[in-house]
Amino acid sequence: MKFQETEEKLKERIKELTCLYEISKTISQSHSIEKKVLKKIILSIKNAWKFNNDAIVELHIAGYYLTTSKVPRKTVFQICTINTAYSNSEYIKVHYPQEKYSQDEFLEDEQKLLNTAAVEIGNYIEKFQILERKQSLRRTIERMDRLSTLGEMTAGIAHELNNPLGNILGYAELIKLSNTDPEIDSDISTIIKSTIYTREVVKKLMFFASEMPHQAKLEEIKPIATFALSFLKQNFQKKDIKSELIIKDDYLTAKVDSVQITQVFFNLLINAIYASPPKSIIKTIIDNDSDYLYIIVQDEGHGIADEIKDKIFEPFFTTKKINTGSGLGLSVVHGIVKSHNGEITVTDNLPQGAVFTIKIPIS
Ligand SMILES: Nc1ncnc2c1ncn2[C@@H]1O[C@H](COP(=O)(O)OP(=O)(O)OP(=O)(O)O)[C@@H](O)[C@H]1O
Ligand SMILES: [Mg+2]
Repeated sequence: MKFQETEEKLKERIKELTCLYEISKTISQSHSIEKKVLKKIILSIKNAWKFNNDAIVELHIAGYYLTTSKVPRKTVFQICTINTAYSNSEYIKVHYPQEKYSQDEFLEDEQKLLNTAAVEIGNYIEKFQILERKQSLRRTIERMDRLSTLGEMTAGIAHELNNPLGNILGYAELIKLSNTDPEIDSDISTIIKSTIYTREVVKKLMFFASEMPHQAKLEEIKPIATFALSFLKQNFQKKDIKSELIIKDDYLTAKVDSVQITQVFFNLLINAIYASPPKSIIKTIIDNDSDYLYIIVQDEGHGIADEIKDKIFEPFFTTKKINTGSGLGLSVVHGIVKSHNGEITVTDNLPQGAVFTIKIPIS
C-alpha cells in the first residue's frame, strides 16, 4: 500500500516537472505572443492533472480566449489570476465536469503548479507586450520625425513655387483677355487650367506643412460633422454604404478652424467610402473627455497593411491607380491636425477595415 502511494506521488511529480519543462521550452522558442504557443501551454497543463482525460484548461489573456475543449456548464475548478504590467484581470482555470468530480479531487500540488504556470505565462506575455509597445513607440517617433522633416522641406518648396505660380496665372489671364486668336486662346486656357491645378497641389502641401493661416474659435462640432456627412450623402448612396453618426455630447464645442475641420471630415470619409464594400457601415464618432475632442472614422473596408501604415500621411503616397489619387488627402489631414496641436493615429478595425482617430485639445 505504502509503495503504491509513493509510486503514485512520484508519477504526479514527474507529470508536474514535465509540464513545467514543456512550458519553459515552448516559451523560450517563441518570438512573439502567438495563439499556437498558448495552445501548446494549455495542453501541457492539461496533461499534468491527475484526471487529465477529463481536465479542461481555460486561458484568458492578452485578448486571447482559449480552451482545450468545450467547458461544460457546471464544473469544479482551480483558478489562478495572471498579472502583467497592463492587466490583472486575466486568468487560467483547470476544470473537471461537476457531474463526475468534486472539488476535493484536485490536489494541493496541482494548485501550486497552476500558480507557477500562471507566473510563467504572465512573464512571457509581459515581455512581448513591453517589447511591442517599445517598438510601436519607436515607430511613432520615427514617423513623426520623418513627417516633420518632410514638412519643413515641403514648406520651403511650396513658398518658392507660390509666387511664380501667381505670376504665371496673372499674366496668362491678361494675355487671354487681350488675345483674339482662337488657337492661342485654347493654349492659354490649358496653361491657366494647369496652373490652377498646380496651385491647388501647392496649397495642399502648405496644409501638410501646417503653413496655412488658421482661424480657430470655439465651434460646435456636431454641425461640422453633419454638414460633411450630408454633403457626401450621394457618395454613400452610390456605393450603397450606410453612414452612422455617434455623438457623446450634442453640444460639444472645441477651439477649431471649422473650415479646416470640415476638410478633415471630407478627406477621411472620402477615403473610407473608397475603401468600403457595398452594404458596409462607416461610423463617424465624436467623443470627448474633459480635455480632448476625439474624431473617429471607422470603416469595414479592405484596411491598411502594416507595411504602409507609416507612409500613408506622407505627401504623394497613394495606392490608387495613376491619375485617380494624388496621395495628398491624409497629408492635408495630418497638417491640419498638427496645426490644432492634435494627433492622428490609424489602427485596424476588427474583423476588417481601418480606424482613424484624431485627438485635439478642446481649448
Ligand atoms: N480608410 C482607408 N482604408 C484603406 N486604405 C486607406 C484608407 N484611408 C487611406 N488609405 C490608404 O492611404 C493612402 C493615402 O491616402 P490619401 O488620402 O493621402 O491619398 P489618396 O486617397 O490615395 O489620394 P487623394 O486623397 O489625394 O485622392 C491611400 O491611397 C490608401 O492606400
Ligand atoms: Mg484620399
